[in-house]
Amino acid sequence: MNRKYILAVMFMMVTALSLPVSAQDQWKDTDGNYINAHGGCVLQHEGTYYWFGEHRPAEGFSTQAGVNCYASANLKEWKHLGIALQVSEEAGSDIERGCIMERPKVIYNSKTRKFVMWFHLELKGQGYGPARTAVAVSERPEGPYHFIRSGRVNPGKWPLNLPKDARKKNWEDKKYQEWWTPDWHNAVEQGMLIQRDRKGGQMSRDMTLFVDDDGNAYHIYSSEENLTLHIAELSADYLSHSGRYICIFPGGHNEAPALFKKGETYWMITSGCTGWNPNAARMFSAPSIWGPWEQHPNPCRGEGAEKTFGGQSTYVLELPGEHFIFMADIWKPASLMYSGYLWLPIRFDEAGLPVLEQDRRCTKCVNGTCPKNKQWMIFR
Ligand code: DGJ
Repeated sequence: MNRKYILAVMFMMVTALSLPVSAQDQWKDTDGNYINAHGGCVLQHEGTYYWFGEHRPAEGFSTQAGVNCYASANLKEWKHLGIALQVSEEAGSDIERGCIMERPKVIYNSKTRKFVMWFHLELKGQGYGPARTAVAVSERPEGPYHFIRSGRVNPGKWPLNLPKDARKKNWEDKKYQEWWTPDWHNAVEQGMLIQRDRKGGQMSRDMTLFVDDDGNAYHIYSSEENLTLHIAELSADYLSHSGRYICIFPGGHNEAPALFKKGETYWMITSGCTGWNPNAARMFSAPSIWGPWEQHPNPCRGEGAEKTFGGQSTYVLELPGEHFIFMADIWKPASLMYSGYLWLPIRFDEAGLPVLEQDRRCTKCVNGTCPKNKQWMIFR
């Protein structure tokens, strides 16, 4: 091998190591270990960023540890603080080791001064059937969080936006049982599955939380067999649901919701339902959290846009000055622990529509507002 060739290979190796997150999607913490915080969120509290996410094992799909927590002052260097919410060792507990905890989100309640965590929970050994949500609370951002309860959402309640006459419909006819037919679609739109689940509460799988400017918080989740998104208001202490909720895009098959607000407009980015495989992101907006919600084109642009650059949305982090970071997971189902991360700044185009571009990142900037893009950029 000649010297030029060796130098060229070395140059390529060094360049690869300093590439931004797209190529280096498996990030490491300050101890040099892979960050294990999937389907997560970032909470800013008193000058520190706290990253919460699913701790995933190297093998298998069930939760063996709990919800992980990391802290950072600059969004770049992350110190592992430990497991914020531990699985329980008690047989029969809702959060018994071997359950599935997904997509944890943490918000701070300034009235109660408590940190509140909601997440998607599947009971041990029951696959994805239970479709529950769960809540835990802590005095401190990093935990320990104390599990409060799990269950389905808003038992006995009807959504605010379902016409009253739809409540009495009879969906027994077998023409509504076969999926994706026009009759079935119509029945889903008219609340067939809401009616089915009303007594025990609505299904809740992929989820996020959103705190509005007035302090009201909302739980946004994939419901009705992942067919329809629900937006449910939380109680003033954020520890339960208030009973007020709406369903949006019935039969739209949206997962992985991530919500943010710019000016007076509420934006939501979701994915389609293709398991661990990436698909095209979807985007919606509304003038009020209660709608009306309208759909926009895929916010991703450029190469890889049809697969969200390999990622699936999990959260949108708001930074000072109305800068927003789109956080996504690059799932590696062969070993979920090694799933990677893709964080992109959200640009707003001339029409004010959010845009995600993988090539907006450059390697020259440090964290902060990029002089070229006038956006908050994060580089690893
Ligand atoms: C896609 C979801 O977005 C993930 O959180 C996870 O539930 C997988 N499906 C499981 O297949």
